[in-house]
Amino acid sequence: MRAAVCSEYGPPEVAHIQVMPAPAMSPTQARVRVSAASVNFPDVLIMANEYQMQVPTPFIPGSEFSGVVVETGDDVGTAASTVKVGDRVVGTVLCGAFAQEVTVEAEMLTPIPDGVDLSIAAAFGVAHRTSYHALRSVARVQPGEELIVLGAGGGVGLAAVQLGSVLGASVTAVASSPAKLDAAAARGATKFVNYREVDLRSALKELLPGGADVVLDPVGGDLAEPALRCLRWGGRFVTVGYASGTIPRIPLNLVLLKGIQVLGFQFLNFAVNAADEMQRNEAELLDLLVSGRAVPHIGATFAFEDVVAALRMVADGRAIGKVMLDLGSQ
Ligand SMILES: NC(=O)c1ccc[n+]([C@@H]2O[C@H](COP(=O)([O-])OP(=O)(O)OC[C@H]3O[C@@H](n4cnc5c(N)ncnc54)[C@H](OP(=O)(O)O)[C@@H]3O)[C@@H](O)[C@H]2O)c1
Repeated sequence: MRAAVCSEYGPPEVAHIQVMPAPAMSPTQARVRVSAASVNFPDVLIMANEYQMQVPTPFIPGSEFSGVVVETGDDVGTAASTVKVGDRVVGTVLCGAFAQEVTVEAEMLTPIPDGVDLSIAAAFGVAHRTSYHALRSVARVQPGEELIVLGAGGGVGLAAVQLGSVLGASVTAVASSPAKLDAAAARGATKFVNYREVDLRSALKELLPGGADVVLDPVGGDLAEPALRCLRWGGRFVTVGYASGTIPRIPLNLVLLKGIQVLGFQFLNFAVNAADEMQRNEAELLDLLVSGRAVPHIGATFAFEDVVAALRMVADGRAIGKVMLDLGSQ
């Protein structure tokens, strides 16, 4: 098979496509012929060896994929809930998805509902799930609340704009360009700040004189503190990532003065510690996808050969919504 391989840690440019043996499969695993893969910011961090978990080189990057099951291990079983050859599935892995084939534990694969496109399914995983769990279970967003989304044109941010609107919040989108804010408007945001053109804190105070109820922050850096300062008394600040490359340091007196709650969301820890809540949220999300109420925005699709360009777009923060790799014609 052909796969994108990282033989050393570094920027997106270290990835190169090479022919290699198909991955081995254990008896509890399934082999999936990959059709579409989604490029996520953590893929860039893993390649740079800047992620919270280290993957030894050489490795195949890529954490989110959809495709068709072409083989199952002897112990995969035949229960109705188990995937079988021919099923269209979506899956998430730490790495290995930027390849023609991937092998994963069969129970980690989710069948794609009829009528949902393979690339839409692959685009829906990490970003929408992160945003939904963070908004629904961590921030506990309520209808009518004011929600500020930083990085509102990116994968997690644009999903948060859309899902915050679905949850009934009034969404203020913060991003660096008119194109990103336009995308946020199309997904339900009603107030907008281009922080490159205006002072973020002043603009938010003007737009939200009563303060915001919730800030969702996948960016960190210089945006976090001014956004936090615009929370009303008792507001919630949810940190989900640091795409800016800088983990913000917030003076705790700001938290004290307004009774603010600073909360965090991390996918794997949430899965382990809040399994029931996660299961409920995932069922709700699937329903939103199938009903067409939460369809991901695919801003760019690259041919597999252009995997470096796809990763570079994400690394540079130029992605609008999701960036996809098309392996369907392989
Ligand atoms: N906690 C979790 O479980 C979890 C799950 C998934 C992702 N994450 C994290 O969430 C963050 C966002 O992920 P994403 O998929 O939304 O990424 P993305 O699509 O690349 O969006 C990130 C946004 O960050 C902003 N940004 C500011 N400075 C940047 C820089 N130097 N480089 C890149 N982007 C920059 C950009 O918005 P502007 O142009 O508007 O500034 C960009 O749109 C990442 O740190 C990721 O690791 C966390």
